[in-house]
Amino acid sequence: MSKDDQSKKEFKKPEIAPEVWHDGEFIRWDDARVHVMSHVLHYGSSVFEGIRTYKTRRGQAVFRLREHMQRLLNSAKIYRMNHPWTLSELSDAAVELVRRSGLQQCYIRPIMFRALDEERPAFGVNPFPNPMTCYIGAWDWGKYLGEEAIEVGVDVCVSSWNRLTPNSMPAMAKSGANYMNSQLIKMEALLNGFAEGIALDDRGYVSEGSGENIFLVHDGKVITPPLSSAILPGITRDSVIEICRALEIPIVESGLQRAALYVADELFFSGTAAEITPIRTVDRIQVGEGRRGPITERIQKLFFEITSGEREAPGDWLTFVGEQKPAARPEANGHRAAQTEEVRKAATQSTAGDARDAIHVTLTE
Ligand SMILES: Cc1ncc(COP(=O)(O)O)c(C=O)c1O
Repeated sequence: MSKDDQSKKEFKKPEIAPEVWHDGEFIRWDDARVHVMSHVLHYGSSVFEGIRTYKTRRGQAVFRLREHMQRLLNSAKIYRMNHPWTLSELSDAAVELVRRSGLQQCYIRPIMFRALDEERPAFGVNPFPNPMTCYIGAWDWGKYLGEEAIEVGVDVCVSSWNRLTPNSMPAMAKSGANYMNSQLIKMEALLNGFAEGIALDDRGYVSEGSGENIFLVHDGKVITPPLSSAILPGITRDSVIEICRALEIPIVESGLQRAALYVADELFFSGTAAEITPIRTVDRIQVGEGRRGPITERIQKLFFEITSGEREAPGDWLTFVGEQKPAARPEANGHRAAQTEEVRKAATQSTAGDARDAIHVTLTE
């Protein structure tokens, strides 16, 4: 059976939230459509997020909602995307979407992109004439790298594709266009029989997986590549760093040679979709004992205890959906009008959300 046939056979339709939040209003899933001549389809001009919710004793909780929404605002700011949305409005919209969805737990996907103004269409690379629009959808997403992966680990390769260079496509921004690079990494890995690929940066140092950050354990110390290795500043990565501090496991950010992967005691991925997934082989070389290592297990255990609400998080990490006040309805049309006017000015400054309650995001290393 070809890989294509196999993936069709294994297909299981996810449960999807029946509504999508669009620029301040809830619309039906079926109505969430864009014009094929939208700027984003041709030039990759989108920024997005991926956020998970978890079942807890206090009901469904969104994991690190505001940090994700802050990263979305930062990504938009980097790409000079003018939009009217604030951190609080986006966070409230996501909570409201989950509340209305009927899903027990889900993956939330906010996306902002440059669309098409059908009254005044513009087709060039210059993004400024194209209106910004924002959607949030949600669906139930199981274990990204397979049900078993969390326990037994995955087999991965080092990709022949490099990660982005910092001054071409900023890896700090979670932009749709960056995921063309991720797709090259992922396709090559899958076609060669691996679950995932690890990309090196343009200097040959370890960067990250196609959709995950990476951690290495050596002599009881946890090491992860710094932002200067062209990584996305992962929210799960930040959570792992905090968890290591809580567990008093030494943690450092440091450049890593490819060869360090082969001689590591343990390796694992972190990411919203992948959560904390052990790596058991790299390029068919066994990592440590070839299964989830003890430090990975300790970190993973605390991570899942925190996400399930059994253990207190080191910070304000869970937003309990049932305990949030329903958001006041924003004036969707007012927002749109203001935004169109702004866009026409081909702004040099992005509004990029709510400076009043911005979340601090690490920019160094
Ligand atoms: C390229 C890349 N790196 C790292 C991550 C992990 O980031 P986070 O933990 O915020 O999901 C992701 C997932 O969003 C990703 O796509």
